[in-house]
Amino acid sequence: MKTKYKTSLKNLNSFGVECFSSNFNIINNEKEIIDFITLNNNPETIILGGGSNMLFKNNIDKPILKIEIKGIEIINETKEKVLISVGAGEVWNDLVSWSLSNNYGGLENLSLIPGNVGSAPIQNIGAYGVELKDVFESCRAISIETGLLRIFKNNECNFSYRSSIFKEEFKNKYIITNVVFSLSKFNHVINYTYEPLKNDLKNNNILSPNINDISKSVITIRSRKLPNPKETGNCGSFFKNPIIKDLDFKELTKKDKDIPFFKISKNKIKIPAAWLIEKCGFKGLKDGNTGTHDKHALIIINHGNATGCEIFNFSQKIKNKVLKKFNILLEEEVNIIDK
Ligand code: EPU
Repeated sequence: MKTKYKTSLKNLNSFGVECFSSNFNIINNEKEIIDFITLNNNPETIILGGGSNMLFKNNIDKPILKIEIKGIEIINETKEKVLISVGAGEVWNDLVSWSLSNNYGGLENLSLIPGNVGSAPIQNIGAYGVELKDVFESCRAISIETGLLRIFKNNECNFSYRSSIFKEEFKNKYIITNVVFSLSKFNHVINYTYEPLKNDLKNNNILSPNINDISKSVITIRSRKLPNPKETGNCGSFFKNPIIKDLDFKELTKKDKDIPFFKISKNKIKIPAAWLIEKCGFKGLKDGNTGTHDKHALIIINHGNATGCEIFNFSQKIKNKVLKKFNILLEEEVNIIDK
């Protein structure tokens, strides 16, 4: 393990916010985590993966563990399936590229999602009709309090829309060190139910897409709508899409007939936060060094020198306006780190 006492976090958070860590530790394996916990035992330790879902409001004095555990390994194989074990510090999209180059199916809809493998189960990353839980077999995780290692199987993770046990009951309690995925070798399940994906494939005359076609199309759609964090600081969707009751939705449609929606159960409706934010006049709006993306209202961006506090304050303006106009309280998807 390598420890540094003044480290800039600017290149370690995809918002590109400048701030410093006074206790920064680079972790290369599970033993280093266990040794750190034995010596420090600080339940407030911050775990940093790719930094693509974190907003640092201030300089950080709590210890940070930057997880750099690497490795992609096949651990079991049948005729149809392959189980792969992946270090938490691998870059998510490198894993997707690796799986495509081996013709393993399951990750193609999740192409180009920023971040690392270890963060993926925490918020059950999802895009274009697929969620991590669909390919997740199990993960290894170490308790921040006790240093004990535990294996979580899929059904023990309580996966739901952008959430899991690691965001709820065990929030900030475990460090994920490794994830096992179950991928298909043949007869891949091709999922292009998501409307924009279907349309893009159709426009390119691809009638029976393979996993590479899906990945290419997802990359095209994502790149069109979402800014590249390497060029413009952002954390993808800043808020979750709110899930509201059927009756409240009916009330909303009285005023706005064109409100897009996805029915997710008998009496629950998910509506796009982007639409609510756009209707509040925030799409493409610039507010000092921050603002929203002109092609997607749910993406808050750093125009260059925004501080974490500026971005946070702007997000609260959005939240307040949406609450006032629609009586819907948006919930942050991004983790806000105070100090
Ligand atoms: N919309 C607007 N204004 C906008 C953008 C979108 O009104 O500026 C409306 C449109 O009606 C559109 C709908 O919102 O049809 C949904 O937009 P989009 O297809 O872009 O999806 P999203 O619900 O905003 C979610 C995920 C994204 C993921 C996409 C595609 C959440 C919070 N976000 O976005 O994930 O890429 O679906 O599957 O669930 C992320 O988590 O960081 C992320 C980018």
